[in-house]
Amino acid sequence: MEERGSAGLSRRDFLIKVGKVGGGTAVFAAMSSLGLLGMPSKASALFEPPSGGDLSLTKRNGKKVVILGAGLAGMTAAYELMKGGYDCVVLEAQSRPGGRNYTIRRGDSLTEAGGVKQVCRFDEGQYFNPGPARIPQHHITMDYCKELGVALEIFGNVNEAAYYYNENVGGLSGKKIVKRSAKADLRGYTHELLAKAINQDVLDLPLSPMDKEKLVQYLKREGDLDPDLFYKGSSRRGYKDWPGGGMDPGVQDEPYDLQAIIQSGFGNNFSSEYSIDQQMLMFQPVGGMDAIGKAMAAKLGKVIQYSIEVKEIRQTGEGVRIVGKNTKTGEMVEETGDFCVCAIPLSVLKSIPADFSAPMAEAISKISYAATGKIGFQFKRRFWEEDENIFSGMTQTNMDITQIWYPSYGYLSEKGVVVGYYNFGDQAVKLGNMGLLEREHYALAEGAKVHSQYYKEFETSFSIAWHKVPYHLGGWASYTADDRKTYYPKLNEPDGRIYLAGEHMSYLTGWMAGAFESARLVVDQIHHRVMKQ
Ligand code: ALA
Repeated sequence: MEERGSAGLSRRDFLIKVGKVGGGTAVFAAMSSLGLLGMPSKASALFEPPSGGDLSLTKRNGKKVVILGAGLAGMTAAYELMKGGYDCVVLEAQSRPGGRNYTIRRGDSLTEAGGVKQVCRFDEGQYFNPGPARIPQHHITMDYCKELGVALEIFGNVNEAAYYYNENVGGLSGKKIVKRSAKADLRGYTHELLAKAINQDVLDLPLSPMDKEKLVQYLKREGDLDPDLFYKGSSRRGYKDWPGGGMDPGVQDEPYDLQAIIQSGFGNNFSSEYSIDQQMLMFQPVGGMDAIGKAMAAKLGKVIQYSIEVKEIRQTGEGVRIVGKNTKTGEMVEETGDFCVCAIPLSVLKSIPADFSAPMAEAISKISYAATGKIGFQFKRRFWEEDENIFSGMTQTNMDITQIWYPSYGYLSEKGVVVGYYNFGDQAVKLGNMGLLEREHYALAEGAKVHSQYYKEFETSFSIAWHKVPYHLGGWASYTADDRKTYYPKLNEPDGRIYLAGEHMSYLTGWMAGAFESARLVVDQIHHRVMKQ
């Protein structure tokens, strides 16, 4: 995942881009084929727009694209190409669509590499999203949810009612600190320091006295400082006794000590909560993230062939030939086409025999994938809501579990699924290398330090270690700055007739938007090439 966001290529921009590739006639043809033009044009006769959403009725343009992987990138490539009259076939190794766009419910099973089969025992109606779980408002994912009719609800990404909990960090070690208290105190103290420094003129600022006064006014308000510019606590951080009816104004809590709050390291968490892709208000599909993949798969119907593991990727100057194995029947299958869109993660692709050029094969083999893991805990009571007034959001900790997520659905109902850990790197490898029960016990023990209700209310868990999940072998592509310079440009070029797509082919790695954007890009490139032929 990179800290960098991108305003998704809007649907309209995409259409305009596709339109541009072929020059005059092609522009209109492509745009109308994609349903983008509001007005009829003569050129629209070249492509018929899909009729009633049934892509199979689209007039063919005589070109066939074999797409590898029915994750979001592969399916989007097929979906957009088919709108333009391309014949597509999507080969998917698993028996379901979506790839990492995945939701775990009762009866779902998973066998990780070297692991035993895990079966979900959540109650009906309970679920958790082991992969993507939140959508920023500015991502193209929102456009596709609209187009596919996927109902969304708010995902509470930042909730000041949740906690910070760090160990071995001085006076606040091992204490659960409500986020709003930590934020109010750190903001208060730092604004006090700055306001005083400005008032005492110890900073060499290019500001007039009146500017300085205004700046101090802002700092005073922002830090909730008293008239003498001291931070002495604030109602923003919450109360020891909350205000009530009649003559009960409540009793404010005392601020934490400056040194303790600095040593706690909580401040290091704040910035992630306003990084561009991780701000407070995010979205999730109602009922599970896989609603997106399922809606896309429904559009494609029989175009997707499931349980076909790609064994060989071959190409000549004339076309592509993909050899696969049906994992259910053991039968070998072969698909040929004019082009291939390969949306297989590089972590898996690097081991598949393929006719890639040497530089491309090298680039594919060099990119690392992030280790990441999650566990879903079903609790029989929503104690975080009932006892602690936490409705969605997440607690951050420096323990191996890294964070605890509270569900953004089913508020005030009986049971709920909490994400008991969502971790990365060494911590993900450490927990991922444990057996299933050991992961559960470990995460319960750490989580119980924050929520003493854990053991009493716990019912069942389901965990995932993405670096061990077949056909994925990692959470997302993890590029170094050097990889972006050395290998990424090569990966972005078509290799003969093969085009790579997926979140790894974007600057939105680790986001569904990366998959969507990259798929649109290869559709654009293939269409451009076909129009020039
Ligand atoms: N996009 C992923 C997340 O939201 C990495 O955690």
